[in-house]
Amino acid sequence: MPDAMTAPVSDGFDQMARDAVYRAMFTRRDVRSHFLPAPLDDEVLARLLLAAHHAPSVGFMQPWNFIVIRDAARREKVRDLFLAAREQELPEIEEERQALYRKLKLEGICESALNICITCDRQRSKGSPLGRWHNPEMDLYSTVCAVQNFWLAARAEGVGVGWVSIIEAQALKSLLSIPDHVTPIAYLCVGRVSEFAPKPDLETHGWGRRLPLPELIMSETFCGQGEASLKSAVARLNAVDTVQATACPADQRVAPAVPQREPPKEESALSLSSLNFDDASASLMSQAGSGTWPAMVLK
Ligand SMILES: Cc1cc2nc3c(=O)[nH]c(=O)nc-3n(C[C@H](O)[C@H](O)[C@H](O)COP(=O)(O)O)c2cc1C
Repeated sequence: MPDAMTAPVSDGFDQMARDAVYRAMFTRRDVRSHFLPAPLDDEVLARLLLAAHHAPSVGFMQPWNFIVIRDAARREKVRDLFLAAREQELPEIEEERQALYRKLKLEGICESALNICITCDRQRSKGSPLGRWHNPEMDLYSTVCAVQNFWLAARAEGVGVGWVSIIEAQALKSLLSIPDHVTPIAYLCVGRVSEFAPKPDLETHGWGRRLPLPELIMSETFCGQGEASLKSAVARLNAVDTVQATACPADQRVAPAVPQREPPKEESALSLSSLNFDDASASLMSQAGSGTWPAMVLK
C-alpha cells in the first residue's frame, strides 16, 4: 500500500502522444455519407479489432465477438431491415421533425467496405459473474467499451465507422445466425472515407447540438450545485461546444452568433491549441477567445 509520501507514477504520455489521443476523440465522427468503395486492408482491420479486444470488461469477461460481414447480398438484407425499422420509428418522432428525419442519411451499410456486428455473449462468465451479480447488464456496457475502442482506433487509422442502431434486433439475429444468449450491440459500417466531417451530421442538419458540459456536472449529489472552479476550467476547454450551445439554446437551428475575440492566451491542460482540429472548429476556437465567455456559459 503506498504511503502518503509516495510520488505518483510519472507515466503520462508526452505532449505529442497526448494530443494524438485527444485528436482521435475530438475528430472521431459517425460516418454515413462519405464512404469510398476502396477495400479495407486486413492488417488495418486486425489492428482495430485488437484495440477493441483490449477494452475494459466486467470481471475481465471479454463478452464480445466480431462478425465481419462482406457479402453484398447479406448487406442488402440488413439495409432492408434498416429501411423497415426506420418506417416503424418515424411515427414516434415529433411530427414537425418527421420531414427532416426522412432526409437524414442514417446508414452506410452497402457503400462501406464492410460491416461488423459486435455482439455480447451474455453467458461467457456463467458460474462466476464477478461484478455482474447485482448488475447483470455490465456485460453490455463492457461491449460498448469495445465498440468505442474500435471507433477511436479507426479514426486514428483514417477509417470511417458508422453505427446503425435503427434495426430490429431479433431480425438481425436471425439474419446473422446469432444464438439466443448473444446480444447484438453494434452494427457498424466500416471503410475508407473521402472526409471526416467537422461536426456531427445531426448537428449540421439541425437535429441537435452538443450540450454545454458545465451544465452536466453535479456536485456531490445529482442535484448538487457548486464546483464553480471546475466548471470554469471545463468551460475554458470546452470553448467550441459551449459557445455553440450557448448561442443556440433550447430551440437550436440558429447559426451561432459568436463574438469576435482574440484567441486564448492561456495554454490549456489539453493543449487544445496545438491540436490539429478541422477548420471549422479551429475557427470557432479562435473566435471563442478567453475574455468573458466562461461566465457567459455558466450564467
Ligand atoms: C448507440 C449509438 C447508436 C447510434 N445509431 C445510429 C444510427 O442508427 N444511425 C446513425 O446515422 N447514427 C447513429 N449513431 C451515431 C450518432 O448519431 C452520432 O454519434 C451523434 O450524432 C454524434 O455524432 P458523431 O458521432 O459524429 O460525433 C449512433 C451512435 C451511438 C453511440
